[in-house]
Amino acid sequence: MKLAVCPGSFDPITVGHLDLVERAAAIFDRVVVCVMVNGEKHPMFTLEERLEMIRGAVAHMPGVEAAVCGGLLADFARERGAAALVKGARSSADFDWEFQMAQINRDLCPRLDTVILPARPCHLHISSTMVREMIRYRQSLDGCVPPGAAAVLRGIREGKGR
Ligand code: PNS
Repeated sequence: MKLAVCPGSFDPITVGHLDLVERAAAIFDRVVVCVMVNGEKHPMFTLEERLEMIRGAVAHMPGVEAAVCGGLLADFARERGAAALVKGARSSADFDWEFQMAQINRDLCPRLDTVILPARPCHLHISSTMVREMIRYRQSLDGCVPPGAAAVLRGIREGKGR
């Protein structure tokens, strides 16, 4: 049983992220999508809100679960017995960054490899940063956020009066 961890900020999850998770699920037996803290970013949504949106997005996928972790990714992957991390890259800049992160994570957990999947061309312009901007300007998120996550997002926004 090969397990992959798809880590990220997911602030919020996008259709590009979901595509990555679907592709990871086609390669590995099980996938854990893990919301983590990126110390360089100031999130719009709490870890729990992001977790709920991911759960909404992956509800139709039997081998996929969502989790949250406030610690080191390498520790989480080791504890779960993960065979690999799966990350996406939309550009060579993304690839360079993920390449460095892969080295760091392998230093921290020597058996932990990283699979970097190239984003589909139709998703190259979609990012969580762009989605947050669309939310601020009250634009439609159709085609950017998976339907299951969009429903959760609507509930969060109504609850906060945003
Ligand atoms: O979606 P992102 O922001 O590119 O994801 C980056 C993330 C959250 C996976 C990365 O920042 C991370 O792994 N954070 C957890 C802490 C950690 O393990 N950092 C790397 C070693 S210092």
